[in-house]
Amino acid sequence: MFVLDGKVALVTGAGQNVGAGIARTLAAQGATVIVNDFHLDRAERTVAAIVEAGGEARALRFDVSDFAAVGEAVADIASTEGPVDILVNNAGTGGPERLMPMEPFAATSPDDWATILAPNLYGVLNCSRAVLGGMIQRQHGRIITVSSSAGQEGLPIGIASYSAAKAGQIGFMRSIAAENAKYGITCNTISLGLVLEDASALQHYADAIPLGRVGKPEDPAYLAVYLSSDEADWITGQTIGVNGGSLMI
Ligand SMILES: NC(=O)c1ccc[n+]([C@@H]2O[C@H](COP(=O)([O-])OP(=O)(O)OC[C@H]3O[C@@H](n4cnc5c(N)ncnc54)[C@H](O)[C@@H]3O)[C@@H](O)[C@H]2O)c1
Repeated sequence: MFVLDGKVALVTGAGQNVGAGIARTLAAQGATVIVNDFHLDRAERTVAAIVEAGGEARALRFDVSDFAAVGEAVADIASTEGPVDILVNNAGTGGPERLMPMEPFAATSPDDWATILAPNLYGVLNCSRAVLGGMIQRQHGRIITVSSSAGQEGLPIGIASYSAAKAGQIGFMRSIAAENAKYGITCNTISLGLVLEDASALQHYADAIPLGRVGKPEDPAYLAVYLSSDEADWITGQTIGVNGGSLMI
């Protein structure tokens, strides 16, 4: 089950943490994985781990918020590895690097919002737009977006524009799921709770998580494998929480 042999997967923002976990796990199931990141050195580290484990991968630097660059990258993949079968829209700003200044919305500016919306929302639109034409032609495809429980609940921690982007991802994924189901393309969203490569520093958060621990990158990665597989071909337009029970809806 869940064999991805012969599939080409593009995972954005896969240089570390969640995306790296998804890239490694898809590769372990047989997919050829294009490891995108804005930071090439990070993408190369993920590729090295995949290759060391016997998988196939290539690092590709581009900025998901740059529509033209995304189009060029997808064309490059098509001519090298073949057309993208699986797109995982993971690049974003929700991880440890977002443990950055968080400000009440009333103190933020349009420039602040643009910084958050560009990768988290426009990046998902750009990458999905770039792969959909080929998927429609081939009557098959998988698009998975990594959103956040912050897109589904209100949190008083100064992340309103991030919540807007993450809620936008969910609405966007439902719409493209509805539009493209007739082509055999499924589009689903993973709504994440707190996930870290090294959870030890934030272990105090575990007390507030019903299943008693912070997530590790493999937690969403196993779901990404399932949603990428042929076995999941009757699941589309869904938003599935991977959060240790911290948001139950
Ligand atoms: N880690 C969490 O607790 C958590 C919780 C909820 C949702 N998420 C979501 O999961 C996804 C991954 O989060 P993470 O914790 O692994 O983040 P991270 O910051 O650890 O890693 C994200 C990677 O994406 C890359 N990236 C950022 N902007 C990019 C761009 N414009 N183009 C290409 N690459 C870019 C970064 O260089 C980085 O390597 C994000 O969409 C985030 O919003 C994470």
